[in-house]
Amino acid sequence: MPFKPKNEPFPLPRELYPPDWFRRLTAAEVFPGRPEAPAEIDLGCGDGGFLLAMASRHPERNFLGVERLLGRVRKVARESGKAGLANVRVLRLETTYAVEWLLPRAFADRAHLLFPDPWPKKKHRRKRLMCRREFLRSVHDLLKPGGEFFFKTDHEPYFEEAEEVLESIDFFERMAWPAGDREFYPETDFERHWLAEGRRVRGLRLRKMG
Ligand SMILES: C[S@@+](CC[C@H](N)C(=O)[O-])C[C@H]1O[C@@H](n2cnc3c(N)ncnc32)[C@H](O)[C@@H]1O
Repeated sequence: MPFKPKNEPFPLPRELYPPDWFRRLTAAEVFPGRPEAPAEIDLGCGDGGFLLAMASRHPERNFLGVERLLGRVRKVARESGKAGLANVRVLRLETTYAVEWLLPRAFADRAHLLFPDPWPKKKHRRKRLMCRREFLRSVHDLLKPGGEFFFKTDHEPYFEEAEEVLESIDFFERMAWPAGDREFYPETDFERHWLAEGRRVRGLRLRKMG
């Protein structure tokens, strides 16, 4: 659905609008008030179903959604406001720039990349985030020691390629991820949709090493 501008302030209270886009932010700039609380980052958060479910289950943690589409960003900001979630912020930005250049290092306890664009055409494969070693390295650097990185996709070739790339990487270790544990890990909006269509969803749970 096209984005319809609304007569509302910019940025909305839960939107993160960096004071400077060309230096790394501090934890206090991302989560003012309680920068020391555990932090989770949802990369490509879409309409925020997963982010908001997690944030309401874990008020003791901070949650940041990163999303490039303005309409989705504003929706997450509005919905989190309506739900009274003081632990949510949302950043309108491209994921790789946010992770590689803007967000603090050793900052997140958990990062999530859930149903990213699969780039199915052969000529576009190098755009797959999970298959780019430099992207994986920057997610590693974003995480605190022992932090975790979660990836899900309904696109089998993407999953297989990500597994292959990870075999040559020594800075993440693969963890068990029991299927169907909705308490631990709520379904995302896209996941619900794909599962209803009968698609198979695959996931990787990785722990930072070193
Ligand atoms: C298939 S949707 C998944 C949304 C959500 N994670 C879910 O599972 O319901 C992918 C989302 O990632 C966003 N997105 C895709 N590429 C992105 C990028 N490079 N940086 C930021 N957001 C991106 C899209 O706009 C879209 O909202």
